[in-house]
Amino acid sequence: MPQQSSYQPADRRVTVHDLQAATDRGERWAMLTSYDTLTAGIFERAGVKALLVGDTSGELVLGYRDTVAVTMDQLIPMVQAVVRGTRRALVVADLPFGSYQGGPEQALASAVRHLKEGGAQAVKLEGGRPALAQVRALVDAGVPVMGHLGLTPQSVHALGGTHRVQGRGDAGGSLLDDALALEQAGAFAVVLEAVPAELGRRVSDALRIPTVGIGAGPSCDAQIMVWQDLAGLTTGRAPRFVKRYAHLAQSLHAAVEQYVTEVTDAVYPDETHSYT
Ligand code: KIV
Repeated sequence: MPQQSSYQPADRRVTVHDLQAATDRGERWAMLTSYDTLTAGIFERAGVKALLVGDTSGELVLGYRDTVAVTMDQLIPMVQAVVRGTRRALVVADLPFGSYQGGPEQALASAVRHLKEGGAQAVKLEGGRPALAQVRALVDAGVPVMGHLGLTPQSVHALGGTHRVQGRGDAGGSLLDDALALEQAGAFAVVLEAVPAELGRRVSDALRIPTVGIGAGPSCDAQIMVWQDLAGLTTGRAPRFVKRYAHLAQSLHAAVEQYVTEVTDAVYPDETHSYT
């Protein structure tokens, strides 16, 4: 069990203020995606401070090619599951494509659903200056908002793919301006995805609110990973920033293969796994 840090209270959920205080003290903290009750509990007990019910679930849970198809109705049951499986982690719910681009009113209606129906404590949306009106509306309504810059997978068709590093060259200055604008609009943190480490450092130095890196180098205040990447449930070629801390796909494959063999060979169930 990791040592309990000063901003990981035992009897209540971590808040966005706890995360800001940790960042102000220069402490690094870890986020992970989460989409179901059992793994959410494991991640929280392992010391993850904040869980993102991301629209990556569209690919990893629902089997879509990208995140574009994901809807609020699909995400809300996952948000509920993660909330039910945890007691201390801050639960951030993603606003999926089409749930906030229509304007502040639409964004507020979607965010309210994530908080009231899902039980989340914060929401995340993609985009910089074009999304500022939405961010302001949510913040004014008392909804903590996490921004998301750099590689923004909901724009896959405009970007021409989701495996491209963003913010190189002149685009870096524009991304920094977006990050500053999000902070100014009241966002409590900003995800930086797939940007050069040097830009990750520049943005982290410039912002007071925490930067949450995913492929944005070591200078970010926090890091996030897609849990199936971290655990090696996804296999094959992965983006450069993915570090596989386990090989679950192999372990699960071997376990299921053994189960199939034992059933076919009438080895399972044996006496110890049968009722008398
Ligand atoms: O949807 C998601 O899981 C995300 C993370 C990759 C940051 O946006």
